[in-house]
Amino acid sequence: MSHQFIQVRTEADKVGVITLDRPKQLNALNPELMRELGQALKAFDADDAIGCIIITGGEKAFAAGADIADMAKLSFADAYKQDYITRDWETIRAIRKPVIAAVSGFALGGGCELAMMCDFIIAADNARFGQPETKLGIIPGAGGTQRLTRAVGKSKAMDLILTGRMMKADEAERAGLVSRVVAPEKLMEEALGAALAICGNGRIAIVAAKESINRAFESPMAEGIWFERRLFHALFATQDQKEGMDAFVNKRPAQFKNQ
Ligand code: CAA
Repeated sequence: MSHQFIQVRTEADKVGVITLDRPKQLNALNPELMRELGQALKAFDADDAIGCIIITGGEKAFAAGADIADMAKLSFADAYKQDYITRDWETIRAIRKPVIAAVSGFALGGGCELAMMCDFIIAADNARFGQPETKLGIIPGAGGTQRLTRAVGKSKAMDLILTGRMMKADEAERAGLVSRVVAPEKLMEEALGAALAICGNGRIAIVAAKESINRAFESPMAEGIWFERRLFHALFATQDQKEGMDAFVNKRPAQFKNQ
């Protein structure tokens, strides 16, 4: 399938890589880009050969936010009727395989929100995160007030959103927004290494782990623990559990069949 605003490729026959590709606008997000991104994510999610997905951008920008030139002319009625920029946003949340954001350069506004929709963020040391929407007379509209607050806590979320300032990669790592920081030239290697490590583990366990971690944000603790326990016990019904434990006991690498 050909795309206008993204590039799609497969690495090592098992990692789906989606590159945001509007470099002249610093990968500013528009509804068509989000539609293409949603389609590409769904295609990788449905492809049995793929075990993990990476979303990345360019060196200067992961994405500098929703397209301001596009938004400048919108009325409330336009924004509301079109469910502007967020119409395809929930597609990302429905993806069951792990999605890694590999972020270099600016991840601002919707770009930061997109990175936060991914399961974890690996950042180049030149990455800059921020939610500068209040400088434009709006607020973050694709989950920023909620996901940033859960990721970095109220004080830093308030600081970032109310001042509109940018946070460098090291601050983002200290604050827990980012899982690893590497040199820009190592970014894709690091993300691919993480993706391949994930692909090497049992796929059913990976999906279950992702579902269970996400419960931590969507349910009270007791319910989350209950959900985790049910999945934990259920995994003893899989061939992968037999294989993984037999491999450990017999000191050999596991060969998971994802069954
Ligand atoms: N939308 C549209 N175009 C954008 C853009 C955006 N979000 N961000 C950058 N661009 C364009 C610029 O207009 C410029 O285009 P021209 O060359 O045609 O003039 C080009 O990308 C390069 O940008 P700059 O010249 O500004 O580059 P810089 O290095 O001087 O600054 C920057 C980089 C700090 C990221 C700056 O571009 C910037 O502040 N961008 C806007 C960031 C922002 O406010 N994002 C939030 C958007 S609102 C949102 O996302 C809502 C939501 O929650 C969903």
